[in-house]
Amino acid sequence: MITIKEWLVNVVQSNKINVVGLGPGNIKYLSTAGIECIKEAEIIVGSTRQLSDLKAIISEKQEIYILGKLAELIAYLKENIDRKITIIVSGDTGYYSLVPYLSKNLSKDILNIIPNISSYQYLFSKLGENWQNFRLASVHGREFDYVKNIDDKEIAGLVLLTDDIQNPYEVSKNLYNNGIRNLTVIVGENLSYDNEKITILEIEDYEKLNRKFDMNVLVLKKGENYGK
Ligand SMILES: C[S@@+](CC[C@H](N)C(=O)[O-])C[C@H]1O[C@@H](n2cnc3c(N)ncnc32)[C@H](O)[C@@H]1O
Repeated sequence: MITIKEWLVNVVQSNKINVVGLGPGNIKYLSTAGIECIKEAEIIVGSTRQLSDLKAIISEKQEIYILGKLAELIAYLKENIDRKITIIVSGDTGYYSLVPYLSKNLSKDILNIIPNISSYQYLFSKLGENWQNFRLASVHGREFDYVKNIDDKEIAGLVLLTDDIQNPYEVSKNLYNNGIRNLTVIVGENLSYDNEKITILEIEDYEKLNRKFDMNVLVLKKGENYGK
């Protein structure tokens, strides 16, 4: 039996690999538990950008492992399993993160997961809206039939992670060409950073999205007259 007090004390578990959600990126959104996990680690794993975001709390004594090939990461983690390791993932740990890969290739029991807010949660908060009626998906290097899904009467819209090929412009153009109207397109780029940019337009104006995009989240929000 574990008491609530002990559980809270043990947020950081030094006998496990801590996986910390960075939140949208700006260090001000990092959780207290996440900061503790990073400060106590002997090894910190993350992308170059994430590690640079965290430089204020990483010391020179800590070993840095920059994420590259995932198979090499697993080999490195296995070699160093007796050391205190913290892995940084962007946004929330439960939304298109490394967690399933780590669980599959190491073990679920060895991970201590510290969640955070996702990039899409941050975007909705900026919009002053709730997201519980939206469907979460991704077209980042994967197939997802957003034309079919947007028509689902049960949902208020879609949240999509995009990539350079299926970017917000291509997705919007495809929706428009499939007859979708009364849809607001919202693109959140570089969320929480100094160069944050939020673009909001109606699907009819999709040509305005014909440009290059930075790291982004795409929200497709149905209007009141959608489908009527
Ligand atoms: C591997 S996915 C991880 C998503 C993450 N777990 C989350 O909850 O946001 C990485 C993608 O999330 C989106 N993303 C993460 N941080 C972002 C930010 N600060 N601004 C805009 N998009 C972001 C981008 O689409 C990026 O390619």
